[in-house]
Amino acid sequence: MASFRIACLVVLLVLVAGPVAVWGGTVALTHRGGRLLTGNLNIGILWYGAVTEKQKQAVHSFLNSLNPSGGDGEPQVSSWWHVVESYQAYTKTGGGKGSPTFTVKVVNEQYDPNYSLGKVLIKDFIKKLMPKATGGKPNTLALFVASKGVTVQDMCAGSCAQHGLIDEQPYVAVGDPEEECPECAWPFLEAPGISVKPPSGEVGADAMVMLLAGGLAGAVTNPYGDGFYADARGDDILEATSVCSHILSAQQARLPVDPATGGAYNAKGVSGTKFFLPAIWNPKTSSCWTPL
Ligand SMILES: *[C@@H]1O[C@H](CO)[C@@H](O)[C@H](O)[C@H]1NC(C)=O
Repeated sequence: MASFRIACLVVLLVLVAGPVAVWGGTVALTHRGGRLLTGNLNIGILWYGAVTEKQKQAVHSFLNSLNPSGGDGEPQVSSWWHVVESYQAYTKTGGGKGSPTFTVKVVNEQYDPNYSLGKVLIKDFIKKLMPKATGGKPNTLALFVASKGVTVQDMCAGSCAQHGLIDEQPYVAVGDPEEECPECAWPFLEAPGISVKPPSGEVGADAMVMLLAGGLAGAVTNPYGDGFYADARGDDILEATSVCSHILSAQQARLPVDPATGGAYNAKGVSGTKFFLPAIWNPKTSSCWTPL
């Protein structure tokens, strides 16, 4: 059983009239020689507890938006996913070009509305719930989405986006951080001096998508603990999105606002959906990147 503690690196963001402060460039992710996840990404979801309809919708729309939709204009969620896909080209043997695209597909979905293992999801419980999430299907990434009131192990202990490996089976676990760990709901909460409303209208739903995006990026680019990461304090490491935490926009001062919800967004998804996605380390430019 392995887990990767992911440190949060606070990058101070100065929102003044000029461009937003961008990553200072002192820490770089490097490839440690191991395999990344490649090929089609099949995902099995276990909804744990009282996950709201809005949260389920946001997660589904986000996952659907990772595949190129061709609609609705820029910036697209799929452009963000292209950066995740591009890591393959920058491995030690990658040669700098020709990253494959991964089709993302939800192949299994189950519900555990009554908290069958209680309200604290420790790794032992995640292991027990694994077959429910994957439905026993091979080559399926297990995704646990827990409702408000559930504590996901390690969520606030130095990390927000959770992913790990149990018996060689990669998983991503996200919760609703509003009450359990409001700092993991940045920038919707715990963002003094800036006001970013959630694009879906519900903090929990959009915070979950951010955690999921970070967890997926980590699971793809550092699935077995010897992929891309940077060393941080102690045993902590920084990965694709945690190395770029607390960046609203790498390119412009203000985010557009969706008139329908009043929420700010930096990426568009399928069917008119809007998302705020975490900044991600771009291995091509060795700097943090956001869709806007
Ligand atoms: C959850 O609990 C409710 C109320 O006790 C019950 O009606 C429902 O069947 C339970 N669902 C599952 C999947 O156990």
